[in-house]
Amino acid sequence: MHCTKKIADDLTWVGADDRRLAMFEGVYSVPGGVSYNSYLLKDEKTVLFDTVDKAVRQRFLENLAHALGGRELDYLVVQHMEPDHSAALRDLVSRYPAMKIVCSAKTLAFMKQFYDFDIDSRVEIVKENDTLQTGSHTLHFIMVPMVHWPEVMVTYDSADKILFSADAFGCFGALNGALFADQVDFTRDYMDEARRYYANIVGKYGAQVTSLLKKAAALEINTICPLHGFVWRRRLDQILAKYALWSAYQPEERGVMIAYASVYGNTENAAELLACRLREKGVPAVMFDVSVTPAAEIVAAAFRWSHLVFASTTYNAGIFVSMDALLHDLVAHNIQNRTAAVIENGSWAATSGKLIREKLAGCRNINLLEAALSIKSSLKQGQLAEIDAMAEAIAGSLPDDGGQARDVNTGVDTKAFHKISYGLYLLSAKENDKDNACVINTAVQVTSSPCRISIAVNKANFTHDMIRRTGEFNLSVLTQRAPFEIFERFGLRSGKDMDKFAGAAYTERAINGIRYLSKHANALIYAKVIEALDCGTHTLFVADVTEASVLSDEPSVTYEYYLSHIKPKSQPLKRKGFVCKICGYIYEGDTLPDDFICPLCKHGAADFEAI
Ligand code: FEO
Repeated sequence: MHCTKKIADDLTWVGADDRRLAMFEGVYSVPGGVSYNSYLLKDEKTVLFDTVDKAVRQRFLENLAHALGGRELDYLVVQHMEPDHSAALRDLVSRYPAMKIVCSAKTLAFMKQFYDFDIDSRVEIVKENDTLQTGSHTLHFIMVPMVHWPEVMVTYDSADKILFSADAFGCFGALNGALFADQVDFTRDYMDEARRYYANIVGKYGAQVTSLLKKAAALEINTICPLHGFVWRRRLDQILAKYALWSAYQPEERGVMIAYASVYGNTENAAELLACRLREKGVPAVMFDVSVTPAAEIVAAAFRWSHLVFASTTYNAGIFVSMDALLHDLVAHNIQNRTAAVIENGSWAATSGKLIREKLAGCRNINLLEAALSIKSSLKQGQLAEIDAMAEAIAGSLPDDGGQARDVNTGVDTKAFHKISYGLYLLSAKENDKDNACVINTAVQVTSSPCRISIAVNKANFTHDMIRRTGEFNLSVLTQRAPFEIFERFGLRSGKDMDKFAGAAYTERAINGIRYLSKHANALIYAKVIEALDCGTHTLFVADVTEASVLSDEPSVTYEYYLSHIKPKSQPLKRKGFVCKICGYIYEGDTLPDDFICPLCKHGAADFEAI
């Protein structure tokens, strides 16, 4: 049964998904499958853009016949001759004998290499800027050789402002019922696959992709239709921005990719320690064991991160075999513009470090750090300073992060959340004779009919446990005049072992028996929990509001207002000690021993000064 999808009034997707393929091109695993996209334009003439892989040929032919609705196929535009897009060519010639084939001269040559049928009588060769009028649409042909093969061209439909982009902007992964990138969480679920696809399929051809981007920039494009993956009709900037970085071999993120090859775990141990030191300095680090992770994934990661560390044991007087293969792949994919460091291991004649350096020398603009580490069988205590020095050198060479409070584990800049105008609330509960309350900033109205709110409460709070058990709470909305004492009393102490309300003059008991803030709150809400969702550190309670009243006209306090006007400013930390004038290492203590040697730069006590 056909399965087609409309893209525009007269454009239909007639491709298909393949979820049985294990290795795309025999090299790249595709656990999420892959789509082969083909598009049918029905104007006065009918035009098909490319075909599909033989694995999905049958579904494609059904889709095409259905989409044509009994019409003849007038043109097949072959943008790319690779067999995953041209396997159904002969089928089309048999089924639609009057069909013309529109392609570049190079495509014609490749077509004759792959097929024996009479091609010359039906082919129409196009070159740069040639057009084809199909009725109300004009198709403009743009040559983009080596995005991925030398014959490749893309097509621009100036009527609907659609770019048929061949392999460019493609992605691994089956479409699974969707077609448009905005129908899925592309950044979360597919950006890694788009990067893996780009880096491995067209990563070598950055200059040619840059040329395509330049040509595309001169066009007004509303929609991008690639040969694999999702169609882009919204937020095209998301994928274009990534392509601008990838094609220029510019890293997406400041941080370190550590690839290591370790036979007995000692090289891995050194790599692991380096990752720990980097994390301690707030530097993001990802690690790959090259014997376990396919090179294609590591190549993609190398396109993402700014710094690369290669740690390899020596094997047969050379680089360990899987590391050797990875480096070969990286060089072949033209990796450049990175800072790199090398760790080697060798029980008798360590050569891997020197050989890795030689390989990296074949790449453009690789800044090889002098900080290096050579291990003889296993890392020794005395070499920890060298690991520290390498971490220091890497951290020191990272580009500025612009002062963002970015979480090193998730990449999330937590300052962004301060821009959301959170309110602050006293959340109170009662269980038997025990009253308790805490301060939260996560209350939100969910619906107005029924009147329902949600609150997220840290599981470490005693109030959380009380609400869990009683299913009831009060919410007092704090105002800008609320003194820090309220935040300190209810927000910074635990109610497990004390009565937080003891001596608090501004609280009363509400008609539901739970205490609330009668001063410095402008509203009171009573609520009963209807659902609790486990969110890891917090529980999200969804609750029905049973009563609510306004207490005053004082403005509500926002989290930002609290930070800037209520919370006391912290005093700078006063550390006692000595700082190395050479490398910045800090020795903490009242006196510096005369024979002290800096563990980082090895300078003596004379190069330290008191702080
Ligand atoms: Fe999916 Fe280069 O072809």
